[in-house]
Amino acid sequence: MAEYVRVMLSEEEVDAKIQAIGDQISRDYAGKQVHLVCVLKGGSFFMCELAKRITIPVSLDFMSVSSYGSDTKSSGVVKIVKDLDEPLKDKNVIVIEDIVDSGRTLSYLLEMLKKREPASLALCTLLDKPDRRVVDVNVDYTGFEIPDEFVVGYGLDYDQRYRNLPYIGVVEFN
Ligand code: IMP
Ligand code: MG
Repeated sequence: MAEYVRVMLSEEEVDAKIQAIGDQISRDYAGKQVHLVCVLKGGSFFMCELAKRITIPVSLDFMSVSSYGSDTKSSGVVKIVKDLDEPLKDKNVIVIEDIVDSGRTLSYLLEMLKKREPASLALCTLLDKPDRRVVDVNVDYTGFEIPDEFVVGYGLDYDQRYRNLPYIGVVEFN
């Protein structure tokens, strides 16, 4: 069976959207510094592109979590594989994600990060699949709302592949 990727959102569309989010964050946090927390690995491409477009001071940190359970469905039980290097206390934190799907990973993660007493805590995601939501999460910045299809590219993988695509696509088989 041949596998190919159908383009859902082109590189130009994604770039323009990231620029718009960068502008919005720079306005919303004017006069402050933002601390971007990247959820690895999926959020890394989006975070780097976004950080380049933010014009106020930025600091960065990374964390890696894994949810127990099957690979395309998250269970909501989140294990920290790599924790942040720095404390969040009194920082204006923005968590950067590739996609919010069921919302389980994010709701767990945000509750955990809130306990570290940041000055503020926001969530920014490149993609959102609202139809799939099981747990309510408040998303502050969304790139695109997409239908319930399994997407790859811009950090998102299918069996660890396709993360490096500069666009968002859907894996098809024929
Ligand atoms: P949630 O806890 O169900 O919201 O799961 C979110 C995580 O599942 C994301 O951070 C992705 O790693 C993964 N995920 C959800 N949907 C997709 C998809 O369409 N393509 C690739 N990964 C996905
Ligand atoms: Mg992810």
